[in-house]
Amino acid sequence: MKKITIIGSGYVGLVTGACLAEMGNLVTCLDVDREKIEALNTGKIPFFEPGLEELVKRGIEAKRLKFTTSYENALNGTEICFLALPTPSRSDGSCDDSYVLEAAKELAKYLHDYLIVVNKSTIPVGTTDRVRNVIQKELEDRKIEAPFDVVSNPEFLQEGTAIYNCMHPDRIILGIESVRAQKVLEELYSPFREVIQVMDIPSAELSKYAANAMLATRLSFMNHLAGLCEKIGGNIDCVRKAIGADPRIGERYLLPGIGFGGSCLPKDVDALCAIAEEHDHPSDFFRSILDINASQKHKFFQKIVSYFGSLEGKTLAIWGLSFKPNTDDMREAPSLDLIRMCSESGASLRLFDPIAMQKAKIQLADDCNLQFCHDEYDAAKGADAVILVTEWPEFQSVDFNKAGILMHNKAVFDGRNLYDMHEMETLGFDYFCIGKSATQARESIV
Ligand SMILES: NC(=O)c1ccc[n+]([C@@H]2O[C@H](COP(=O)([O-])OP(=O)(O)OC[C@H]3O[C@@H](n4cnc5c(N)ncnc54)[C@H](O)[C@@H]3O)[C@@H](O)[C@H]2O)c1
Repeated sequence: MKKITIIGSGYVGLVTGACLAEMGNLVTCLDVDREKIEALNTGKIPFFEPGLEELVKRGIEAKRLKFTTSYENALNGTEICFLALPTPSRSDGSCDDSYVLEAAKELAKYLHDYLIVVNKSTIPVGTTDRVRNVIQKELEDRKIEAPFDVVSNPEFLQEGTAIYNCMHPDRIILGIESVRAQKVLEELYSPFREVIQVMDIPSAELSKYAANAMLATRLSFMNHLAGLCEKIGGNIDCVRKAIGADPRIGERYLLPGIGFGGSCLPKDVDALCAIAEEHDHPSDFFRSILDINASQKHKFFQKIVSYFGSLEGKTLAIWGLSFKPNTDDMREAPSLDLIRMCSESGASLRLFDPIAMQKAKIQLADDCNLQFCHDEYDAAKGADAVILVTEWPEFQSVDFNKAGILMHNKAVFDGRNLYDMHEMETLGFDYFCIGKSATQARESIV
């Protein structure tokens, strides 16, 4: 059992804290957001993550999980302090590590006994060293000596399956230079000892960017290939299955779509470009991943415009707003770009998402062309087209006879290739998806 502090109680910090408490540790989660901490103290979770509310409640009841806004209280007697702070993009695309460095400075004010500062945020190469320097400087200003170590321990959880990922990690990366810190962290992570990888700090820091850039590469590769399929009369699903059967390639992360979003892939690939440029290393390969992603969203929008000629006065139903299913996270959601482009072109939009409506309302509050609807059928009422943006499982089993009756014009733009083109056309819909020409899709073996 370890005494642990988590600084930053968002998606990563809260899930990590709740899971470490579940594993028997004493965990205090800290955040500067007072409202968030007040809510957490009553067991309320500020975002949607399957299973998290139960886990947090269990931790509170067992008195293994606490929440505070006070650095002093949070750090009292703690041995390991995780940093799970935002690392957003700056306007030039590089990573803003100021939240991490500010938190390091703040925690150093209360440092007395040995502390291991473990960074879980996704941070550019060199930030772990900067954290060490900030803490050392604060200690010098306080004119005290206190032993501490810094460790890079990038987080790989995925929203929607975050608890499973935390409790069944496929790897635990420890960028570490201290034998003492390594021993403590190997004890903490002993249930997962088989997947611990110890390495130097820069390699650990780069590993997270490499993982996200690789995933983004696969998606941009498939989206780029899907465009070629449309031009040659091919079917991206057939090509995907053909290449996915090769064990050297594998099936995952090969689904084409309207472009990736979320709080990680876009910003991390952008930051990787900046890291490469800073070190005088060509960034054009990484940059092309982002360029293809941006053009993918635009090409999908153009499909809708081409169908109607003009979007002026059209009503479009948007199904799915969050950046992916099973989360309410709207950060960098492709729906936001699409909604903005459609709205600026004169369309009225009827929006529905099973979970992300509240967060979407906050992001889209300024746009008067938008109507938030009760469910997917409500959104389809009077619509000239349905646009599927996020492949929530409930959208898989939509009754299109019912939806078609409610619509003004029967057209579906499927941004996730969720539906079968032949079935949709049989039901009388004009159906458009990604990487399939109509003839090929009918012959498809999907
Ligand atoms: N969300 C994911 O799926 C995911 C997965 C892996 C890694 N990451 C990385 O983990 C980091 C955190 O991401 P997140 O999604 O949890 O962010 P988040 O925005 O959900 O949470 C960050 C929290 O830190 C708090 N905070 C800000 N400044 C603070 C300070 N000085 N002291 C204490 N708290 C402070 C914020 O109020 C917020 O609650 C990022 O670097 C991200 O790239 C995220």
